[in-house]
Amino acid sequence: MSKNNHIEFPFKMMASFAVFALMMSGCGNENTENKDEQSSKTTETFQEDLEKKDPPKNEQEVERDAGGYIVGQELPKEATYISDLLIASKRYPLPADFAPGEDPEARAAFEELNAAAVLEGYTFNAFSTYRSYDRQVELYANYVNRDGKEAADTYSARPGYSEHQTGLAFDIGEVGNEQLFADEGFGTTAAGQWLEKNAHKYGFIMRYPEGKEDVTGYMHESWHFRYVGKDIAKDIYKNKSTLEEYLEIEK
Ligand code: DAL
Ligand code: ZN
Repeated sequence: MSKNNHIEFPFKMMASFAVFALMMSGCGNENTENKDEQSSKTTETFQEDLEKKDPPKNEQEVERDAGGYIVGQELPKEATYISDLLIASKRYPLPADFAPGEDPEARAAFEELNAAAVLEGYTFNAFSTYRSYDRQVELYANYVNRDGKEAADTYSARPGYSEHQTGLAFDIGEVGNEQLFADEGFGTTAAGQWLEKNAHKYGFIMRYPEGKEDVTGYMHESWHFRYVGKDIAKDIYKNKSTLEEYLEIEK
């Protein structure tokens, strides 16, 4: 894992500066007008995003700690929605009192997935779904106690930063194989592989894929799935992508 303190310059930010520069230069030929129009769209989208999510400072201005969290960042007053998707990550925390419970649409999608899996001989259990802020306080403290903070930060979210607090994250394991709940071995079982290949059909994405640790900020978890709806899940699956890449956001 990288130490997450490298500097990135988001594409949308660059587009905004490009538009600003063009406006200031007052160029008027057809080519630049076209470019200007395209860039303006990007800027509008960016400004919409700004209004929606009140984002932290850009990556050049933020300092990350060894766990990948922004130094000095406080939990926000509002949850962040980007393109209508609720997001929780090291970059986008949730308010401590954000407590929606398990998402009913995600639960229904999981039941649909499980019904299909049963026909193939696999029965799944969503062994951890919604977790409150207070529950994450306990869990994270236990992991830090057991493995130390640096290690814990690679696999457990700090309180306020867990996707489980959104009610949209489902930790999934196979009934009868409980010893592999939240264990990397799950991904090598037939059930785990079926899930990896089919979850998107029911609106779930594998949220922390192997090889994308520097994109998501977490080690691979073969059991952690996030409900995003069928269209987006299919897109992300097809492109072997992540939520961060799909939304073009920092981890
Ligand atoms: N294990 C995931 C990253 C969480 O704690 O939310
Ligand atoms: Zn999880």
